[in-house]
Amino acid sequence: MSESTYAKGLEGVVAAESEICRVDGENGKLYYRGFSIDDLAEHSSFEEVTYLLLYEHLPTTKELSDFTEKMRFQRGIPTTVQNMIADFPPRGSLMELLQSVISYLSGNVIHTIKHSTDCNCRRTLHQVAQIATVVATYQRLKEGKSYVEPRTDLSHGANFLYMLRGEEPDEYEGKVMDTCLLLHAEHGFCASTFTARVVASTYSTCYCSISAAIGALYGFLHGGANERVLTMLEEIGSKENVAQWLDEALAKKSKIMGMGHRVYHTKDPRAVITERHLQELAERKDDFRLYDMLKELETRFRERMEEKGKPLYPNVDFFSGAVYSLLGIPKELFTPLFAVARTAGWLAHILEQRKDNRLFRPKCLYVGGEPVEYVPIDKR
Ligand SMILES: CC(C)(COP(=O)(O)OP(=O)(O)OC[C@H]1O[C@@H](n2cnc3c(N)ncnc32)[C@H](O)[C@@H]1OP(=O)(O)O)[C@@H](O)C(=O)NCCC(=O)NCCS
Repeated sequence: MSESTYAKGLEGVVAAESEICRVDGENGKLYYRGFSIDDLAEHSSFEEVTYLLLYEHLPTTKELSDFTEKMRFQRGIPTTVQNMIADFPPRGSLMELLQSVISYLSGNVIHTIKHSTDCNCRRTLHQVAQIATVVATYQRLKEGKSYVEPRTDLSHGANFLYMLRGEEPDEYEGKVMDTCLLLHAEHGFCASTFTARVVASTYSTCYCSISAAIGALYGFLHGGANERVLTMLEEIGSKENVAQWLDEALAKKSKIMGMGHRVYHTKDPRAVITERHLQELAERKDDFRLYDMLKELETRFRERMEEKGKPLYPNVDFFSGAVYSLLGIPKELFTPLFAVARTAGWLAHILEQRKDNRLFRPKCLYVGGEPVEYVPIDKR
C-alpha cells in the first residue's frame, strides 16, 4: 500500500475478509453467519448464537445441549476472583477490572498452550461464561450484598439477572435480557473487534486479545452510548420537556446520543427489536416514562434532521439503556454488559484471524522533520 492511500482512522479501508457478520446499512439488515438478526432474536438464544459464531453453523439438539452444559458449568467464579472484585480499588472502573480478571483467568487455565499458534477459544468457554458473573458480582459487592452462585438451569441472560438480583426473573424478563445479549454479540469490524484481531495476529493468547478488546470498548466513542442516553433522559426529565431540550441541544450543536450510525442509513435493525421490548416492558410494568420520552425525542429529532436534509435514525443504543433500566440494571453496567455479549463475537474473530493469519502491520506516514545532528547535553 503506498503512502498516498492514507486514510485517517482507516476509514474506508478494507483490513480483512470475514464470514462472520454482514451489516447491510442501506436496507437496515444485520446477519450473523447469514442468519438475520430478526430470526435469531425471535427464535434463538445467546448460547445458541455463541455456538453459531464459534462453530460456523447452527447446532443440532445434541450439539447445543453439550455446548450449553459446558458453558453453564463454567459460570461460577473462584473465591480468588471474588476477592479480587472485592479488593479492586474503588476508583478503578469495572471495565478495567474485567481486563484484570480475564488476564488472571489466563494464568489459571492456559499456560500449557500459551505460546502455541493454536487457539483454545472454543475449549475455554469460561471467558464467555464467567464475564457475566464478574459483572453481576461487582454490583452485588458494591451494594454490600454477597456473591450469588450462578444456576445451570437458566439461560445466560436470565442467569445474569438472577445473579444480579438474587432472585429468579420472570420468564419474559429473562428472555429480554438474553435477547439483548444476542443483539450485542457481534457487529463486524468495530474498533474493539479490530483490536482483538490485531492482538490475535501476533499469536498472542485469546485472553490478551479479549482484554485488549475490552480496553478498546471502554472508550466513550465506542461503548457507552446507551449509558449516555440514559443520562440524557435524566436531564430531560419528562416527555413535555423534550422539544425545548432538543432545540437547545441542537442549537449548541450537541450530538444526540443513540442517534445516527456510521454504517446504517436506516433505523438500526437492533433498535427496532429493542424498541419492541421496551414497549412491552413498559406495558408490563405500567411505566411509560422512558418509552414516551424516547418516542417523542425520536419523532422530533427526525423532523429536525429531515428539515436539514440529514435524515438520521436511532441506533441500537437509543432504546437499549431504557430496557436495561426497566430490568433494574444500573447504568454503570451497560458498557460492561456490552463486553459480556461481545466476547462471543471477539472470540469468533480471533478464531477467524488464526485460520488464515497475517500479522497486522500497517505503515504510518512520517510527517516529522528532516534528520538533525545529535547535540551533546552540555551544548544544548
Ligand atoms: C454514530 C456517529 C458517531 C456516526 O457518525 P458519522 O457517520 O461519522 O456521522 P457524522 O458525525 O459525520 O455526522 C454527519 C452529520 O450528522 C450530524 N449528526 C450525526 N449524528 C448526530 C447526532 N447523534 N446528533 C446530532 N447530529 C448528528 C453531524 O453533526 C453531522 O452534521 P454536519 O454535516 O452538519 O457536520 C454519530 O452519529 C454520533 O456521534 N451519534 C451519537 C453517539 C451514538 O449514539 N453512538 C453509538 C453508535 S452505535
